[in-house]
Amino acid sequence: MIKKGIILSGGKGTRMSPLTKAVNKQLLPIYDKPLIFYPLSILMLANIKDILIIVNKGQLNQYKKIIPNGDNLGIKITYKEQASPRGLPDAFILGEKFIDKENVALILGDNFFYGQSLTDQLLNNTKLKKGAKIILHKVIKPELYGVAKVGYKNKVIMIKEKPKKYLSDLAITGLYFFDNKVIDYAKKLKPSKRGEIEIVDLINKYKKNNKLSADIIGRGGAWLDTGSIEDFYKTSAFVSAIENRQGFKIACLEEIALNKKWISKKNIINSIKFYGNCDYSNYLKKLI
Ligand code: DAU
Repeated sequence: MIKKGIILSGGKGTRMSPLTKAVNKQLLPIYDKPLIFYPLSILMLANIKDILIIVNKGQLNQYKKIIPNGDNLGIKITYKEQASPRGLPDAFILGEKFIDKENVALILGDNFFYGQSLTDQLLNNTKLKKGAKIILHKVIKPELYGVAKVGYKNKVIMIKEKPKKYLSDLAITGLYFFDNKVIDYAKKLKPSKRGEIEIVDLINKYKKNNKLSADIIGRGGAWLDTGSIEDFYKTSAFVSAIENRQGFKIACLEEIALNKKWISKKNIINSIKFYGNCDYSNYLKKLI
C-alpha cells in the first residue's frame, strides 16, 4: 500500500503573471477554494495521510496560513521549500528523507481530477508494490503534455514530453505512483535542453526495465490541467456547475476526512471558526 504522497506545488507561475507575482499559483482560486485543495483531496481519497507539500522558496508562510498542518484533517502535512523549479523529479530528491524506504505517489499542485469511479481507481493504484504507474487521459491537444502511446492491455510503447509530431492522444496526467527506486533514478537524471530534469526521463527508466504500467481515466472522468488563466476559468466554471447543481462540494477536505472517520464533529467546528463566515463554512455546518 502506498501511504505517502507528495504534492509538487512550487513553480514560477510565469504564464499567469501578474496574478502570480505575489501569490503562488496553487493558492489562487478554482471557484470557491484554493487550487491546492483539489490535489490534496485526491491524495486523501486515495487514503494517503502522510503528505509532503513542496513549495517555492519564500512562499511557505502563504501556505501555512491556509493549511497550517494536517492536524484538523486527521492527516500529517510536512512542508519543504524548493530553491528553484529545476524539474518535477526534484520532488523525489527533496523528498528523500520523507519517502524513506517506502513507495510514494506524486501529484502536481495544478492538476484537477473528477469522476465517479475515480476513488476506486485511486485505491487500486496505491496497491503498487514494484515499478511505476502513470495515469492517462484522452485530450484534444496532446502536444501540450507528456504523451504515452499504449498497446495491448495498456502496455506503454512510447512516452514523450510535449511531442511536436503526433504520437497518441493520451496525455500523461500529473498523478504518478512509484516504488522506492524513484529516489535513485531521480538523482541520476541529467537536465534536458530546457535546463530541467524531466519526469518523462524518469518514467523511461522504469519503462526500460519493463516496470512501467498505465491506467486510463475514461470518458466518465475529468482531468483538467490549470496551466493558464483560461484553464483557471474553465475549471472554475466546471466546479461551479457541479456544485451548484448537486449541492455537493468538490474537494471539501473536511468532508473527506469526516467520511473516512479521521476526524470528528469537533474538528469541523474548529474549521468553521478558522474559515469564518463564508459559503465553505456553511457547507461544513450542514455536514454536522
Ligand atoms: O499536468 C500534466 C503535465 O505536467 C504532464 O503531462 C507533463 O508530462 C509534465 O511535464 C507536466 O507538464 P507542465 O508543462 O504542466 O509542467 P509545469 O512545469 O507547468 O509544472 C507543473 C506543476 O509543478 C506546476 O504547478 C508547477 C510545479 N513545479 C514545476 C516544476 C518544474 C514545481 O513545483 N517545481 C518544479 O521544479
